[in-house]
Amino acid sequence: MSKPRIGIIIGSTRPARFGDKPADWIAAIAARRDDIEIETVDLRDYPLPFFEEDRSPAWGPSKSEVAQRWQKKIAALDGFIVTAAEYNHAPTGVLKNALDYAYNEWVHKPIGFVGYGGVGGARAVEQLRMIAIELQMAPVKNAVHITWGDFVQVMQQGRKLDEFEHLNQAAAATVEDVAWWAKVLKAAREDKAQAKAA
Ligand SMILES: Cc1cc2nc3c(=O)[nH]c(=O)nc-3n(C[C@H](O)[C@H](O)[C@H](O)COP(=O)(O)O)c2cc1C
Repeated sequence: MSKPRIGIIIGSTRPARFGDKPADWIAAIAARRDDIEIETVDLRDYPLPFFEEDRSPAWGPSKSEVAQRWQKKIAALDGFIVTAAEYNHAPTGVLKNALDYAYNEWVHKPIGFVGYGGVGGARAVEQLRMIAIELQMAPVKNAVHITWGDFVQVMQQGRKLDEFEHLNQAAAATVEDVAWWAKVLKAAREDKAQAKAA
């Protein structure tokens, strides 16, 4: 089995977004491991329209070229770590839309979160875990929550996320969870595909 490929999805797209900082930081932590491969996936590169397909991607192919390109990218990845901004106590619209624009490509893959904001994006992360279950994913227990005090120091005072040891520890635990599930579920998906082909 080849090494699982983990996508770090930047879950916000506004021009002045904070999302790059947690994405770059956790990508660097994950890249220190030699048992997984890391790729950053920027939703800005997939300008999906608000969902307007005739049916769910669970039930048939999408017409939109961007949606097809997005689904191909998700299919090529074995697990995900998503930066989770919180907009009005919920995940960003752009991230929910991107989740809706694939289905089979998410199934039986793990997903972990790096939340940030007043309460570390906790309310958005909890909602994302529920959405992930509907997509037949495995949302992992560990997560990073960059709460207000740390968030402000990084956003306004020029501090770096890797200066916060509790955040480094949470990031390593989240990566470990996603890597473990990615290996187990990749093997299971490959077994199932082989059995089907036989
Ligand atoms: C529309 C909007 C709603 C927001 N609502 C919340 C919120 O409910 N809770 C929170 O902690 N932060 C909230 N914020 C502040 C965000 O945490 C902060 O702007 C953060 O930088 C957003 O992530 P981004 O920069 O990657 O887009 C909100 C920001 C916006 C733009």
